[in-house]
Amino acid sequence: MTTKLDNAALNQLFIEARTRNGWTDKPVSDALIHELYDLVKFGPTSANGSPARFVWVRSPEGKAKLASLSMATNPAKILAAPVTVIIGHDLAFAEKFDTLFPARAEMMKTMFSVPAVAEITAFRNGTLQGAYLILAARALGLDTGPMSGFDNAGVDEAFFAGTTIKSNFICCLGYGSDENLFPRNPRLSFEEACSLA
Ligand SMILES: Cc1cc2nc3c(=O)[nH]c(=O)nc-3n(C[C@H](O)[C@H](O)[C@H](O)COP(=O)(O)O)c2cc1C
Repeated sequence: MTTKLDNAALNQLFIEARTRNGWTDKPVSDALIHELYDLVKFGPTSANGSPARFVWVRSPEGKAKLASLSMATNPAKILAAPVTVIIGHDLAFAEKFDTLFPARAEMMKTMFSVPAVAEITAFRNGTLQGAYLILAARALGLDTGPMSGFDNAGVDEAFFAGTTIKSNFICCLGYGSDENLFPRNPRLSFEEACSLA
């Protein structure tokens, strides 16, 4: 049985949630990172392929490396946030179908090992898993600051060398401050963004 979430929950997840640019010193524990992943992993993906791979960057060396590969005003945010997670996707995600779809593993491996299919499927579902991460983080009381302004090839070299994992976007996590908070920008209305067919 599912029920509609109350207004407080909808505000926390969507209506009042903001993208943060400033961060307090309040840390994010290992236990909370694990709790976050343990929600994210349940978000649906094509054939349960679960292509996203996450690197939780929080060491001073890791933050400095990631900041050095980021653009414009993004480095300061990475250095200030307790954690910045790199959301990547494994182009060889099909190798895990024995675990992820045991009833149809061979069929899924064949289908999702074709390079062009693997690439678009990993990107599509890895992006979805990144979105689940933003909402799961908010559900756990964390703030988020997603960013795509960085050198993807450089991040792949620094964090995913020797693997089949490609970076997609990064996301600061922690407890946000109002520092450099932009005014909330409008969203498209239903009439502007939607049609009924
Ligand atoms: C995938 C993605 C990439 C983004 N890249 C950047 C970025 O590189 N730098 C930045 O300052 N903000 C970046 N943003 C933040 C967006 O501008 C922000 O989420 C949007 O304006 C909505 O802000 P709000 O949640 O406060 O309403 C990015 C957001 C997303 C989801």
